[in-house]
Amino acid sequence: MTNHVSTLNVLLYGEPIATITHVGNDRTLFAFNDAYMNNESRPVLGLGFKDSLGDLLTEFKPTQTKLTPFFSNLLPEETMRNYLAERAGVNPAREFFLLWMLGQDLAGAITVEPADGEMLPSNIRQGIEEKMTHEAPMRFSLAGVQLKFSAVQQSNSGLTIPATGQGGSWIVKLPSSRFDGVPENEYSMMTLARQLGMDVPAIQLLPINQIANIPAGIGKFGAYFDKAQAFAIKRFDRADGQAIHIEDFAQIFGVYPQDKYKKASMANIAQVIGIEGQEADITEFTRRLVFNTLIGNADMHLKNWSVIYKDKRTASIAPAYDFVSTIPYLPDDSASLKVSRSKKFSDFTLDELSHLAAKAMLPEKLVLDTAKQTVADFHEIWAKEKHHLPLTKSMINAIEEHVQSIPLR
Ligand SMILES: Nc1ncnc2c1ncn2[C@@H]1O[C@H](COP(=O)(O)OP(=O)(O)OP(=O)(O)O)[C@@H](O)[C@H]1O
Ligand SMILES: [Mg+2]
Repeated sequence: MTNHVSTLNVLLYGEPIATITHVGNDRTLFAFNDAYMNNESRPVLGLGFKDSLGDLLTEFKPTQTKLTPFFSNLLPEETMRNYLAERAGVNPAREFFLLWMLGQDLAGAITVEPADGEMLPSNIRQGIEEKMTHEAPMRFSLAGVQLKFSAVQQSNSGLTIPATGQGGSWIVKLPSSRFDGVPENEYSMMTLARQLGMDVPAIQLLPINQIANIPAGIGKFGAYFDKAQAFAIKRFDRADGQAIHIEDFAQIFGVYPQDKYKKASMANIAQVIGIEGQEADITEFTRRLVFNTLIGNADMHLKNWSVIYKDKRTASIAPAYDFVSTIPYLPDDSASLKVSRSKKFSDFTLDELSHLAAKAMLPEKLVLDTAKQTVADFHEIWAKEKHHLPLTKSMINAIEEHVQSIPLR
């Protein structure tokens, strides 16, 4: 019965640091271990675990059905969550058990494993044993909505998705069943971002027939099945088999994924980056904000910005990911989050950026000079590259029309 107590160990870089205990009736309680709390040079789990004096928070309230926001944000959403939950045979709403199943390969340097044995309590599995045709559960989890898998690079080009979904150092994002050309779009936007000097991981655009082991029944790839391509990006939280810790801004602000378009602004993100990072982080943040506004990316929510802990203790802005021009699919006059006072694209002015700089306590001149330089670089690189990128005419037109509407000159 569900009142059975069970515990998950939370490991950071392979060392146990905390537990999540299922205390019955789908309530769970997070707690740090004494050894972690007493360790003066402990590796940082998340900025949200610090109090206003910078000390570790140690008192947590239990949560019902969902985990605390930090862990809830490690789990996928919508289609991707339903898919992995179905394969694992667990209810997608019961996050403790979902994390139990998927905790082997999470974003950053966290792993989660059951304290007392591998198997889920039998009452939790939803009759999976009867479904003999079911494929083995996948033991990895990345946030987000799009169908994506962890993949391993093959020596003869191409990628393979491991049967457990676990252990790859690439992420493959499959084509969308709703919108055409999303992988091509993302590949193009990430390429432009790299040429504009942003920190962009290695990427590939590859035909889906060069990806081995795409799970059966994973959806159709639109009308152009044979020609469909996928977008792949090298994981920046893995290097030579080692995990590097990262967290996103929904985790930092303690906001559940469903509120990723609310509760905080670009100025709030900028403030954290300014406090924790170096000048180069502020420049990088400003470039990304301006670039995504110019290309009409209305989806730069809290989970599309992360920090990375290169030395296990200091946060800096993580490499770029999920840059897509969304306006060709969903015309929008607003960005995903307020810049400082407004989320309207038509309010994206130097004055709005000055306001952001003041609110986030960033050097105004650095922000404004970087913004102006990014606009100038964008126009130059766009003119040179637009016909060499895998973009359709209508995408190019949509972006050009949108750029004209941004009052940042
Ligand atoms: N190159 C990368 N290295 C490490 N982690 C990554 C990388 N790219 C993405 N991630 C992680 O995986 C998550 C999902 O990736 P991404 O944002 O590209 O997917 P998505 O499903 O399109 O997201 P959304 O829900 O915003 O549409 C990110 O929130 C981030 O935590
Ligand atoms: Mg995303």
